Amino acid sequence: MPAKRIAIVTSSTRRPRLNPTITHYIYDVLLADPTIPTNHHPATSTDSSNSTDTDPRHVIFEILDLSTQSLPLYDESVIPASLPTSNPAPHYSKAHTRAWSNTVQKYDAFIFVTPQYNWSIPASLKNALDYLFHEWKGKPAGIVTYGSRGGVKAAEHLRGILTGLRMRVVGTAPGLPVKYTGLPVGMLSEEEERVELDKRDLQGWREAGVEGMMRNLGMELVCELDKGVSQ
Ligand SMILES: Cc1cc2nc3c(=O)[nH]c(=O)nc-3n(C[C@H](O)[C@H](O)[C@H](O)COP(=O)(O)O)c2cc1C
Repeated sequence: MPAKRIAIVTSSTRRPRLNPTITHYIYDVLLADPTIPTNHHPATSTDSSNSTDTDPRHVIFEILDLSTQSLPLYDESVIPASLPTSNPAPHYSKAHTRAWSNTVQKYDAFIFVTPQYNWSIPASLKNALDYLFHEWKGKPAGIVTYGSRGGVKAAEHLRGILTGLRMRVVGTAPGLPVKYTGLPVGMLSEEEERVELDKRDLQGWREAGVEGMMRNLGMELVCELDKGVSQ
């Protein structure tokens, strides 16, 4: 039985940005937790097949970066929720929507990692969510936010949106207050460099139990996946 695939979604798309650094940090925390039944898998690989894996609880975490999807602002004439449930992809008129639909269909669950933009989520994330409906519906979802106060308002908005998409949003939603970590001035390379997390932020998150919350979130997703996908 192939391990279930959990996408850790990098949601902001500007250059440069902090989101890839935060996403990789979360990936590392989840992979280092011995209680989460991971089938260890490189972050960049797309091959989820493992014919020798017989543990039905096994999961693999993969990073899914919205900036690689090249989605324009929503440009389909259809309303995704009104399409046939079984396979909506052929009903989309645009190749980028069909590609995005096929990508999302491959995953069993999602952790959306997002900054707070003006008390909400970035338009890039809302846009990517709006493109589809049945591909999200019934799947477990987790939320991790960051911002000067942890991005609580973004988390509230995102929870409402994901609930509207009929996703099964787990309760734990860690928020990372970013006080010291920042984008170096003049960092404008197209070849995006990874920003270093400031040790003071890391220490603050550990002391506030944020890493423990991430591990709880991971286990909540594993438990939801154990129950199966409800459509
Ligand atoms: C358009 C915009 C709006 C923002 N609004 C907020 C906000 O409401 N609250 C907050 O704490 N930080 C806010 N910030 C600061 C971001 O949390 C910070 O810039 C973070 O690095 C953004 O993530 P990114 O680099 O991955 O885009 C905002 C940043 C941008 C670019």
